[in-house]
Amino acid sequence: MRMKYLKPILVASALVSISQWSAVALAQNADASKLYNRSLAATCANCHGTDGKGVPEGGMPLINNLSSQEMLKKLMDYKSGSLEGTIMPQLAKGYTDEQLKTIANQLGKNNKEAAWIVDIL
Ligand code: HEC
Repeated sequence: MRMKYLKPILVASALVSISQWSAVALAQNADASKLYNRSLAATCANCHGTDGKGVPEGGMPLINNLSSQEMLKKLMDYKSGSLEGTIMPQLAKGYTDEQLKTIANQLGKNNKEAAWIVDIL
């Protein structure tokens, strides 16, 4: 094969392998961010249970009845101090607003994909 034809073929095959590689990288990033989102939310299971039912009679409220919006509102209110509590105000202050949003999106009952955290543990 003459060089004249070889070059475009080499360039084309290089481009194909770059695009394949970046598709793999993107998929890995998506997996990593899914794992990150879920692990942030999994910390809540310590007290609220892996099904979000909590132990209401023990002072750990059920939270799987809240939508993402309702949960985010509560978490932000705990963080700002406008909602009082024994544990949640300190806990909420430990997260950035972005992380609270991620957690609320992950655990809200409207999130069908993530269901509840029971499926990650
Ligand atoms: C160490 C135990 C503990 C952990 C961990 C914990 N919570 Fe809580 N949570 C509580 C308690 C206790 C309350 C009741 C309010 C208070 O006293 O702080 C509560 C209340 C709540 C409420 C309000 C429920 C309602 O209907 O008013 C929400 C929402 C909530 N938690 C979400 C979360 C999320 C999301 C996480 C994970 C980031 C989390 N909690 C982690 C103990 C915990």
